[in-house]
Amino acid sequence: MAKRGKAAAPSTAAPLVAHADPKSPAAEAYRSLRTSIQFAGLDHKCRTVVVTSSSPGEGKSTTVANFGVVSAQAGSRVLVVDSDLRRPTLHRIFGLGNARGLSTALLEEQPFADVAQATAIPNLSVLTSGPLPPNPAELVGSLRMRECLEAAAGDFALVLLDSPPIVSVADALALSAVADGVVLVVRAGKIPHEVVRRAVVQIESVKGRILGVLMNSVNLKRDGYYYDYYRYYHSYYSPTESRRR
Ligand SMILES: Nc1ncnc2c1ncn2[C@@H]1O[C@H](COP(=O)(O)OP(=O)(O)OP(=O)(O)O)[C@@H](O)[C@H]1O
Ligand SMILES: [Mg+2]
Repeated sequence: MAKRGKAAAPSTAAPLVAHADPKSPAAEAYRSLRTSIQFAGLDHKCRTVVVTSSSPGEGKSTTVANFGVVSAQAGSRVLVVDSDLRRPTLHRIFGLGNARGLSTALLEEQPFADVAQATAIPNLSVLTSGPLPPNPAELVGSLRMRECLEAAAGDFALVLLDSPPIVSVADALALSAVADGVVLVVRAGKIPHEVVRRAVVQIESVKGRILGVLMNSVNLKRDGYYYDYYRYYHSYYSPTESRRR
């Protein structure tokens, strides 16, 4: 949550801001997300979390990457999985090769932990997408994916999954159905409320458990917030409350 402050924060547009500038307000916002998810997991097991959004370009991959970084910084063993098998970006964000990854693990029946790559950040491994398959929805919705995910939840304290947007394809809903929880990213000021509401209904229709909604890239001046130096801001509340809002 935002705190009062006087000085202007430095611009923190680097995709891995939580690693590049851990003291920035942006990194602090990602740490708040981590705390919220930890609380959400007190009553229910919450080891596998899908990050998705209703529409393209709302900030899913950026959120997954930074959420992974702050969780690893807290000492948990974390796996970030690029399960966007259509427009994968996590290999670029982390500067990793992508010759092998999720698609390879699924097709060759290899555990995620064996195919994932270590990163420069202690405790953080990344399973990149691997070569793009012709049938992404089938692959991420397969029984094999479910089994691998369950196994990965035994190897890692937290498994975070990137995904394509809900509006265009079935992949994110298939992932929402098998993961322990879902974080819905909403790019502030860009997406009609109705579209977000529809995404919530769709996730709930596959019995996905929405842990919270992350308001991304709020323009604090435009959106009338007092704390005008925050570049990132996240609001975290229950799905019931999110519907009210
Ligand atoms: N909070 C933010 N502030 C500024 N820029 C951001 C923020 N979040 C994401 N971006 C930028 O917005 C662009 C889209 O972000 P990102 O790739 O994370 O979205 P996405 O939802 O994964 O997109 P896609 O649907 O194509 O997978 C990127 O250039 C990213 O650096
Ligand atoms: Mg993405």
